[in-house]
Amino acid sequence: MTNYTIEDWAAGYISQEQEYDYLIENIEGEIPPNLKGTLFRNGPGLLDIGDIPLRHPFDGDGMISRFTFENGKAHYLSRYVHTEGYLKERSAKTILYRGVFGTQKPGGWLNNIFDVNLKNIANTNILYWAGRLLALWEAAEPYRLDPKTLDTLGIDYLDGLLKKGDPFSAHPRIDPDGPTLVNFALKAGLTSQLTIYEFEKSGKLIATHAHKIPGFCFIHDFIITPNYAIFLQNPVNFNLFPFLFGLRGAGECVEFQPEKTTKIIIIPRKIPYDNVQTLEVQAGFIFHHANAYETAEGICLDSICYESLPSVEPDADFRQTDFSKVAPGQLWRFNLNLAQKSVSKKLLEPNCCEFPTLNKDYLGRQYRYLYLGSADSALKQNAPLQRILKIDLVTGEQRAISFAPRGFVSEPIFVNDPTKAESEDSGWVLSVVYNADRGASDLVILNAQDMSLVATLHLKHHIPYGLHGSWVDECFT
Ligand SMILES: [Fe+2]
Repeated sequence: MTNYTIEDWAAGYISQEQEYDYLIENIEGEIPPNLKGTLFRNGPGLLDIGDIPLRHPFDGDGMISRFTFENGKAHYLSRYVHTEGYLKERSAKTILYRGVFGTQKPGGWLNNIFDVNLKNIANTNILYWAGRLLALWEAAEPYRLDPKTLDTLGIDYLDGLLKKGDPFSAHPRIDPDGPTLVNFALKAGLTSQLTIYEFEKSGKLIATHAHKIPGFCFIHDFIITPNYAIFLQNPVNFNLFPFLFGLRGAGECVEFQPEKTTKIIIIPRKIPYDNVQTLEVQAGFIFHHANAYETAEGICLDSICYESLPSVEPDADFRQTDFSKVAPGQLWRFNLNLAQKSVSKKLLEPNCCEFPTLNKDYLGRQYRYLYLGSADSALKQNAPLQRILKIDLVTGEQRAISFAPRGFVSEPIFVNDPTKAESEDSGWVLSVVYNADRGASDLVILNAQDMSLVATLHLKHHIPYGLHGSWVDECFT
């Protein structure tokens, strides 16, 4: 029993070839006049190149959407990130690079063997910090864009901090104290290296420290508290040979090892950064963390966990995904006791959920409200995200708004209401919803307190399902 059709869901993964620039006029409800600023979003916009379908949506070129809100009006602008690979493939009208998640060059394994030259697709997140707008992809350097036009300005080496080919994670965290931007870079290998960077509001680098981590690492996200940067090292191995011999993408060679524990690596954010602690727990596979905060015993950490690594089966088409055969993401709470080096865990939300977000003023602090994309049905099985769910972590109360059967949501983003700062949930939640009824996307504005619908902005087109985005209080038009 499902509340959607796979055809409706898959239609949100049709390539969007066009770029747009217009005032949004088809609106139900009213845009709050005090909602002022910019929502940036990033995600794969092209799902095929030269009529050759990509094997996995995460291999798609980054397409940036910018929604500008001012005086009760909203403007939309979209542009592709003009990476070197995007420009070359647009010109050649064929796939020229192997994708991390399994997309291969045409011509079979003989045309892919020993080609380890990956394409920086800049498709995962977008960050505005100290005047720089950066499209992020974790395995390579950020691309810098002009926030006024979204024109690509080129690879940004962050004033020489990065070297050619260096990674820079797509999951930066902003500590509200400062504020301070904290990000990491992972170089995975037999021994892996995690480097942590901290930048002050002006953009100046104020801390950098590197740590050797035993074993292969697949770490997509991390979380911070005032005193710690926390990483979960998933229990995985990397099988190099199918990748080297051109049979599989690098991401498909990551093998989940359910018998092994997840290592929780806790790195101090204060000099001399060297009292790194490692705890272990059975946690499955983790992409994203919701939040963490310090407690009397240690750290409380909330994360989305999967029983196993979600993957596309060999020779399967992701557009035909049988969701019931993939483990759902579930929200778990981990209480870390640093003195006893022990971990206790508790399932907070068993139903399928992903993309946890919160009021960013509470990042790394004790918090109450969490917003997530979630499946519409309460079947404890995987399904597309069709609801925006709010969880009160103190009372356990849940509120949700569903867009089923024909709507499919993306990551919710919380925006503070500047005129009502009295409570953690005074504000709005924004999400791009693919509306299969129209074959186009809507931007929905929700009241973050009761999750009621404030306004629906009907776009003239669809935006392929995105990954991550961010809110900036400035307008750039
Ligand atoms: Fe992510």
